[in-house]
Amino acid sequence: MESPVIVAIDGPSGTGKSSTSKAVAAELGLSYLDTGAQYRAITWWMLSNGIDVEDPDEIALAATKPVIISGTDPKAPTITVDGADASAPIRTPEVTAAVSAVSAVPEVRRRLVDAQRCAAAHAAQGIVVEGRDIGTTVLPDATLKIFLTASAEARAARRNGELKGGQSMAATQEALVRRDAADSGRKTSPLIKADDAVEVDTTGLSLDQVIECVVTLIEEKRAVR
Ligand code: DC
Repeated sequence: MESPVIVAIDGPSGTGKSSTSKAVAAELGLSYLDTGAQYRAITWWMLSNGIDVEDPDEIALAATKPVIISGTDPKAPTITVDGADASAPIRTPEVTAAVSAVSAVPEVRRRLVDAQRCAAAHAAQGIVVEGRDIGTTVLPDATLKIFLTASAEARAARRNGELKGGQSMAATQEALVRRDAADSGRKTSPLIKADDAVEVDTTGLSLDQVIECVVTLIEEKRAVR
């Protein structure tokens, strides 16, 4: 029997990874895993439990304490921390500001990467997994690896649209560039394109065009398996 399709979608913030991954998974009947939400969830737990997020040793000691569970339905993805719905609090500016530091700690990554591999191994119908290190570290044998990019201006414009005018475009762009630099510059599993990933520059593309492109790439892969 053919093994389930595993799609890794990586790239910096604001390239449309989440919207694309969810839509592609829903269209093809695959599961969906947002690994960024898991790093945000552990960060939120650390902030809520008085862990000093500037102290890697303190973060490392606490890394296995929260129970984080991701629902993998692309039409209604969920995330809980110790049984409580964490979908809203993980998107606050406080979590966004602290998540790069927390996700750079190797103990945090080890524990979440294990959970991510387990989710992929148990997705009988196949899965789309989005993040920063999926193609390079989490699932190096994925059926297809996509690396989404876009200009800093386009990414900031999209993020500002999501934030509904809460901050200036320049401030959004600066925060995005700072977070990408931290995610790309860390020692453990930095944000980097896998050698065998297909790069898709989404700068001038609509979301529908990106979805169509990724669906086509998956169908091409399936046809030659
Ligand atoms: O995709 P996102 O913006 O929700 O991700 C939040 C942060 O989590 C991002 O700044 C880097 C980190 N992250 C990571 O280090 N590895 C992943 N596989 C996914 C996200």
